[in-house]
Amino acid sequence: MADEQSATKKKCMGSDCDNDAGSLQCPTCLKLGIKDSFFCSQDCFKKNWVTCPRRKAGETRTNCLTRPHTSLCTSSETYNPFPTFPYTGPLRPVYPLSEHRTLPKSIPHPVWWQDGNPKYSRSLINRNKIEILDAAGQQAMRKSCKLAREILDIAAAAAKPGVTTDEIDRIVHEACIERKSYPSPLNYNHFPKSCCTSPNEVICHGIPDKRPLVDGDILNIDISIYHEGYHADLNETYYIGDKASADPENVRVVEAARECLEESIKAVKPGVLFREFGNIIEKHAKKKNCSVIRTYCGHGINKLFHCPPNVPHYAKNKAVGECKPGMTFTIEPMIALGKYRDVTWPDNWTSTTIDGKRTAQFEHTLLVTETGVEILTARTANSPGGPVSLPTVENGASA
Ligand code: MF3
Ligand code: CO
Repeated sequence: MADEQSATKKKCMGSDCDNDAGSLQCPTCLKLGIKDSFFCSQDCFKKNWVTCPRRKAGETRTNCLTRPHTSLCTSSETYNPFPTFPYTGPLRPVYPLSEHRTLPKSIPHPVWWQDGNPKYSRSLINRNKIEILDAAGQQAMRKSCKLAREILDIAAAAAKPGVTTDEIDRIVHEACIERKSYPSPLNYNHFPKSCCTSPNEVICHGIPDKRPLVDGDILNIDISIYHEGYHADLNETYYIGDKASADPENVRVVEAARECLEESIKAVKPGVLFREFGNIIEKHAKKKNCSVIRTYCGHGINKLFHCPPNVPHYAKNKAVGECKPGMTFTIEPMIALGKYRDVTWPDNWTSTTIDGKRTAQFEHTLLVTETGVEILTARTANSPGGPVSLPTVENGASA
């Protein structure tokens, strides 16, 4: 009786509802012994119950349908979508992901933009044959790769403590539109965002989410674009804030990855076998007491996002083919402080180290020339990031 009287003065629990509460009580709350979950109508109840992100994530509803629910379950509320997953390190996904982003129809879209399926027409697929681009194709790759470099540099300049990786994704998406380019990852095999952001123990394919970057993080930003029919692909790992580059372990893995890519690129010229790059990369990684990730490889890239050759980064691999002038492909070594083995999160994308230790990656799109190589995604004088030296004991240690 007392309950019913106070209920009549109450407001509906609906988060956007200003109606007085009716006599409808949330049955789940009642079972839990919560007696003040009143709604104005069945409709309002349904709407609020079903839209609760924590409920969708399978969390308990003890708090979810009580008064704090309305403030906890607004769009600014974040949650771990896989609360029972045995994460290998400290990083967690921070959901909800932002809304799906779109592009003007006037920008050419790759085949997967709608159904997520990168199936190409017969004419584009040359199974196992490595494409050799003519002068016009090479020029188109130069243009696409130059734009991709600009976009990576814009993204990197925004990567600071407190900024979410979703905000970086928004900046990348806008920068793509400004350059009449489609962000190749968007809906590629259903990847939900416009770039990959991979912090700390994430090897690659991290999904931009609501986690704000922390001073001391290392972050890989991986940009791929589709411009006038040609894909470009590059990535770099950045030190976030002042603390990251003061940590010798961060510097060891990031600089090892940077040098592995540089050393392997030095070897690119006509006649060199694609299986050779892994030998160079693993040798350098070992020298820095690091391991080489084996699951993900470099790849051919042109009118297709991923095509032959396959370019493993580990030693004694059996990759097929040799460099010839006009070929375009990526080298993108992923280097880890601990074990080389990887574990993928239940989002089916985020790849992490099995031991939760940190990992770093660098990637360029390359063109084989008559005499050597052209780095199509090369840094410019103004590119953010770049090598740092290992902190000395003096300035690395605290007093
Ligand atoms: N550089 C990455 C790669 O070649 C880009 C991945 S985009 C994604 O694998 F959509 F596949 F995540
Ligand atoms: Co790539």
